[in-house]
Amino acid sequence: MIIVRDKGGTIRALSNVCPHRWMLLVGHDPEAPIPIKAESCGNRRSFQCPFHLWSFDLDGKMIGAPGMEEAKDFDKLRWSLPQFAVELWGGFIFVNLDPEAEPLAPQLATLQPLVEAYELDRLQMLEPLEYECNWNWKMSVEVGSESYHHLGLHQDLLEEFMPAALSDIESPAGPYSIYRNPTADGSPIPTAFTPPAGLSEQQLSCLTLVTIFPYTMFFSMPEYTAYLQLIPESFDRHRLRYIPLVHPNVEQFPEPEEFANIVRATLDAVHQQDMVAGAYCWAGAQSQVARPGRRSHLESQLWQMHNWLLDQIENP
Ligand code: FES
Ligand SMILES: [Fe+2]
Repeated sequence: MIIVRDKGGTIRALSNVCPHRWMLLVGHDPEAPIPIKAESCGNRRSFQCPFHLWSFDLDGKMIGAPGMEEAKDFDKLRWSLPQFAVELWGGFIFVNLDPEAEPLAPQLATLQPLVEAYELDRLQMLEPLEYECNWNWKMSVEVGSESYHHLGLHQDLLEEFMPAALSDIESPAGPYSIYRNPTADGSPIPTAFTPPAGLSEQQLSCLTLVTIFPYTMFFSMPEYTAYLQLIPESFDRHRLRYIPLVHPNVEQFPEPEEFANIVRATLDAVHQQDMVAGAYCWAGAQSQVARPGRRSHLESQLWQMHNWLLDQIENP
């Protein structure tokens, strides 16, 4: 699909498939037409299909179809681009392929006040870190959803600063899990610039991690948030784009670029350790004696997620 802000400022999710003969409208690499890599971004005044030059406005309406003069009763508007349901929440653009789906925001009504002060919709994207993960995407969600594993995997980088045992897990009613991980001594997390004004004392001294089921995951700290964008490609493969999002107050920092490098290096160091869990747990999962294990109270987020998944399977 094409996610676009149209001339009136509305964000839309348009089909990227030309309604004529199904050519992809955008995303080709002009230098190397095959294999296609249907992913790109940029600015356009309209979309024109390269195959026979049908063209469409940014709101999806057809604006031209050369050579169609003789097509009887050809109604251009009928051949506009199909659109999908779009909802904005916390600066994220959620798209739903099901036109009948319930809106998301009411389902996240209890989450909203817990993350509002981080000002998610004002944050600025830094260049993402990219990882290829050869295991099921749910394993990445499970690793990211709890901090029990600070004890083992992140002994050196996180456990001392944010001990697993202190993680404070909520039991929300909505389709998400949330936990907070305070610093070992409860002191504020050191910052290089002024954090958003509305953060509570608790938020200043903890990391807040949210998983909106099934796989929208982000964690927020006073000066930045990190969004883990999971892109499942098969049951045993996904890509993970780890996107740091920085509060605009970063401008106070003398070298915002330098700050970005520090954030990216920190996230990468921790994530390299998390990748170890994904790879080796997936290998272990292939064993014929692998059974679901007993869980600690420090990972009840997994239980929440699994129940949500069961619900989706039983009541699709
Ligand atoms: S396939 Fe797009 S114009 Fe023909
Ligand atoms: Fe981790």
